[in-house]
Amino acid sequence: QAAQKGGYKHFMLKEIFEQPLVVTNCLTGRLSANHARVTLPELEELSTPERLHIIACGTSFHAGLWAMYIMESWAKIPTSVEIASEYRYRDTILGKGDQVLVISQSGETADTLACLRKVKQQGAKVIGLCNVVGSSIARESDTVIYTQAGPEISVASTKAMCSQLVVLTLMALFWGRRKHVLTEAEETETLDALRRIPEQLEAALPAMREQANALARQYSGARSFLYLGRGPCYPLALEGALKLKEISYIHAEGYAAGEMKHGPIALIDPDFPTFALIMCDDLFPKVQSNLQEVQARNGKIIALTQDDAVLTLDSVWKIPRSRGPLDVFFALPALQLFAYEVADYLGKDVDQPRNLAKSVTVE
Ligand code: G6P
Repeated sequence: QAAQKGGYKHFMLKEIFEQPLVVTNCLTGRLSANHARVTLPELEELSTPERLHIIACGTSFHAGLWAMYIMESWAKIPTSVEIASEYRYRDTILGKGDQVLVISQSGETADTLACLRKVKQQGAKVIGLCNVVGSSIARESDTVIYTQAGPEISVASTKAMCSQLVVLTLMALFWGRRKHVLTEAEETETLDALRRIPEQLEAALPAMREQANALARQYSGARSFLYLGRGPCYPLALEGALKLKEISYIHAEGYAAGEMKHGPIALIDPDFPTFALIMCDDLFPKVQSNLQEVQARNGKIIALTQDDAVLTLDSVWKIPRSRGPLDVFFALPALQLFAYEVADYLGKDVDQPRNLAKSVTVE
């Protein structure tokens, strides 16, 4: 096992550090020779969805939720994102021309598989986004797109989500171009930014880990955390909170930053820290004003932001910038590393957290 861990203390850490390579592998064979266009043969035969229904569980659900933002803005496809265990028993409605995208690292999650079977019976076309080759969901989907992340051993998913985000980016670009929503220049520039990520991330990860370690020492005494994000950072707030819960057993709640005043603000006090995602985009001032509300109530704040941000908060953690929603490729590893360092500092069994399974094959 030690050899399999490649010198890392845990599989989770190894898998976090594999993410630059995962991005590269995910792009392999999916770009035109001049790198200017997406080539996704898996989608060529299918029409462009009128509406897209994304169904998944856990971390894969968060990847789907992030994808909603780019499907809407880059491809103008109305998109809904559903938790499989809920979708399964609802009287769901699929229109003619709608397509279903099921996302599952393992390809074996019982609820997700049940949804796939349900929508197929209703006549929908299903695209499966899977990591495990030949898995049930991969086999039963009309079209499968593999995430090519390699085996993920750690129960808490890290690199698989990264690979899902790469493929989802490519899908949104593919449909966006087909529908003439995106210009060729926009597609090429986004792909250029995506292709730069492996190198940028590789360079950034060691310092990110150090920062995560320092913050873990400072904050791991907290009994509960609030994670806030807005826009494409909202699903990331959910994922950051999930990672922390899963492996450190510290309670954490992910919230849409603007929704904070409708409840969680009542909890703010000096012992209830907020982990905020505040990227340098159009929503920056909005999140900043949410954080002022937290400060006014003496809440401690860790702000995950970017180089150009000017913020006076307890802990400001700056990560590299990419192009718009692609900032996710830096924010996600930061969240993973923070959860990892807290759990490791507290001496938890990082790779095998209690009560959790890598793949939930029963209902
Ligand atoms: C379990 C795992 C999670 C995973 C979820 C969905 O809860 O512990 O890490 O995100 O299942 O798994 P899937 O294989 O369908 O992506």
